[in-house]
Amino acid sequence: MESHADHARTFDVVIIGSGAAGLTAALALGETLKVAVLAKGGLTGGSTAWAQGGIAAVLDEGDTFEEHIRDTVIAGAGLNRRETVELVVERAPHAIRRLVDLGVPFNTEGNALHLTREGGHSHRRIVHVNDATGHAVQQALLRAAEANPNITLLPGRSCIDLITGRHEQRYSGSGRVWGVYALNEETGHVEAFTARATVLATGGAGRVYQFSTAPRGATGDGISMAWRAGARVSNMEMMQFHPTCLYNLEVKNFLITEAVRGEGGRLVNPRTGKRFMAFYDPDRMELAPRDVVARAIDSEIKRFGLDYVHLDISHQPEAFVKEHFPNIYEKLLTLGIDMTREPIPVVPAQHYTCGGVVIDLDGRTDLPGLYAAGECTESGLHGANRLASNSLLECFVFGEAAAAHILSHWTAFDAPPSVMPWDESRVSEPDEEVVIKQNWTEIRRFMWNYVGIVRTTKRLERAMHRIQLLNTEVEEYYRHFRVSTDLIELRNLLQSADLIVRSALKRHESRGLHYTLNFPQTDDEPVDTILVP
Ligand code: FAD
Ligand code: SIN
Repeated sequence: MESHADHARTFDVVIIGSGAAGLTAALALGETLKVAVLAKGGLTGGSTAWAQGGIAAVLDEGDTFEEHIRDTVIAGAGLNRRETVELVVERAPHAIRRLVDLGVPFNTEGNALHLTREGGHSHRRIVHVNDATGHAVQQALLRAAEANPNITLLPGRSCIDLITGRHEQRYSGSGRVWGVYALNEETGHVEAFTARATVLATGGAGRVYQFSTAPRGATGDGISMAWRAGARVSNMEMMQFHPTCLYNLEVKNFLITEAVRGEGGRLVNPRTGKRFMAFYDPDRMELAPRDVVARAIDSEIKRFGLDYVHLDISHQPEAFVKEHFPNIYEKLLTLGIDMTREPIPVVPAQHYTCGGVVIDLDGRTDLPGLYAAGECTESGLHGANRLASNSLLECFVFGEAAAAHILSHWTAFDAPPSVMPWDESRVSEPDEEVVIKQNWTEIRRFMWNYVGIVRTTKRLERAMHRIQLLNTEVEEYYRHFRVSTDLIELRNLLQSADLIVRSALKRHESRGLHYTLNFPQTDDEPVDTILVP
């Protein structure tokens, strides 16, 4: 139950993140335990609310678990862990049923759920709510969490660092996790939240790149907090670029769902007027896995000196396009593009963080008392490249798995000790904000230019050099000045960049999302890139 021992607020379980993973865990735990859900900014600020295409699950009679597993492993270029893929795929139909019970209004066709198709899937198996699935899912989960008196929702808390066995504020080394220190964004004070178990559900690190479809807060906070506390992270070089982000000078991160290609959309070179996927993957064409399509677009753009390529679905009937993609249609109309009549200019942009905190099948990290679920983890599901619409699914399966493990081992969890209060004596410098902004921009630019879709060792080394220079500066701010959300995020952005580049430098082959001109071959044996603190 919640208590106020010392200055800390104590709950049974503290969950960091209010997206699909965090709220799924909260709903399962909240049946019997007192749970706090902390979120940076608002409760719907993560990627979950932005998801478009849908959720993959074997629901069609002609489809099989084995085929969903095979598609996941093909997309993942063999780096997936088979036992994880089996677990997630086999639990998918149950996850969808739970969402239906929570009131998610999935599209239907007759008595069945309508299934759309996306790249890398050999069957139609994506359930969806038009082209705005994430919004409907986020709202349903939030409604259920708000209705549960055991769940305390605490938005406006920017978590800074995990509270570990040594009770230090800045910690390096491994130890039991007892909760987290969080900046109250309204009061400006740092609060301590302690618990017997802590669940990280903080999403990805996409904002480390200049162009990303991810929301502003995707700064790798959970991955960085876990790393600083002593947990291993793996496969951070596997940053996924979505092939089709809208190219627009004002709107920089609007996704055009893969379902547009699933429903017949064609990729065309605006200079030649030709479909170019025939040149790169003649069998799968536009429905090849994301890494293949993103590299093909990148190559066309570079070879022809283009700003973008075209995604064209205007050959489909107008009513069909409007019915399947009502939100995208409306959004594009406001920008002067009628997708029922003309092609959409698109470019690849960072979209998903395949690597993250290492977890087992119960969502356990290396650190006692610390669990993790969703995009901040590396569970073994995605391997070297995530299959479309497998991500929300992973959140539901691992949110539940972590909760189930906590519940079934509850009597073994000790009560948290009293912890040291945060040092509030530091002050803010007036010019601090402008320097923080500049560092944000610098990181995102060099990551885009040096650690993008096609890499070289030289460019990776250049990026690492800049990371090292910035690191001294950022640590200095962090030690001397009052923490702000921007500073917390900058520190984590830099930490994430460091983990990505270090992992990329370790992989001496090209596989899935990691493509380097220095090692274009794929090794026979797939090996995880595991970083140990
Ligand atoms: P998120 O939903 O990102 O939530 C993270 C939570 O952590 C937020 O509440 C945030 O406030 C909180 N947080 C982060 N840092 C801190 C901190 N320091 N302190 C406190 N709280 C913190 N996947 C699919 O399967 N299907 C799709 O159709 C699909 N479409 C997508 C479309 C877009 C545009 C994007 C960006 C992604 C899409 N994805 C899709 C991916 C999928 O949406 C995400 O991987 C998934 O929603 C991640 O859920 P999560 O719960 O792990 O994290
Ligand atoms: C999309 O709708 O294209 C995104 C799907 C995903 O990221 O899985």
